[in-house]
Amino acid sequence: MRTSLSALRKKLANGRKLSMLTCYDAGFARVFDEAGIDTLLIGDSLGMVVQGRDSTLPVTVQDIAYHTGCVVRGAANAFVLADMPFGSYQESPAQALHNAVILMQAGAQMVKLEGGAEIAPTIELLTRSGIPVCGHIGLMPSHVHALGGFRVQGKETADADRIVADAQAVEAAGAAMLVIEAVPDAVARRVCNDTTLLTIGIGASAACDGQVLVLHDMLGLTRSPAKFVKNYMVDVSGGGDAVLQAARRYAREVESGVFPGAEHVYGLTSGSVAGLYGSSPNPEAATPGAAP
Ligand code: KIV
Repeated sequence: MRTSLSALRKKLANGRKLSMLTCYDAGFARVFDEAGIDTLLIGDSLGMVVQGRDSTLPVTVQDIAYHTGCVVRGAANAFVLADMPFGSYQESPAQALHNAVILMQAGAQMVKLEGGAEIAPTIELLTRSGIPVCGHIGLMPSHVHALGGFRVQGKETADADRIVADAQAVEAAGAAMLVIEAVPDAVARRVCNDTTLLTIGIGASAACDGQVLVLHDMLGLTRSPAKFVKNYMVDVSGGGDAVLQAARRYAREVESGVFPGAEHVYGLTSGSVAGLYGSSPNPEAATPGAAP
């Protein structure tokens, strides 16, 4: 039976954290389902890891809907959420509702949107319309040009305060889940303490309720991966089910809090996020003298 949002909350209440992987096709969805991955995200990262682009910006609602259908057909159990790509929700809440309906009709159980207080009216309309919402704060990859590269967010006190306030605005608007990406551990912990959202970290903190990795990163296919990546293929014993073994280990390590370790989270002086979603490290994003 397909996992529900309340089943995810129950698992967490029983002391087990939530595992999420990105997924874009039925084959990987089937293996990840068998491995016990709780949630599969059809991320707009597909623009980079599947389509080979430099950023997530060119991804369309039709792209996400197509891959959502593939994933839903492959996985019978996992909770499935789909990204609303760049330009599919910023125009107006009505535009967001129109596009979120397309993704829900493709089989998603929840949609994910990057943004904070500025998209609160959009989140309100979606949730009032019966569409569960996951927010996404911290490093928002579709803002790459505004940010001048893929950079760790929230290092300055004012930025950290804004991230916490954005998380609270997203929660007040009715979101149920929140992805926190590439912020210092201490900032992610504040978000986790100051909201009741299901928090999912990526380069954030072990304090989050769950963790997400891009599947190409988790399987070691990314050259120069970001600090928050762990390659779960390194220790598998091989054979035909290597991907299944890697995914099982990831699920177990997230569930028990072993992943992320201290080496996977950022301090307050961290700078660029090298190799995000398989991209080449962006020279523009490098902060001279800062630890990666
Ligand atoms: O697009 C994506 O894959 C994501 C996750 C990495 C959180 O947003």
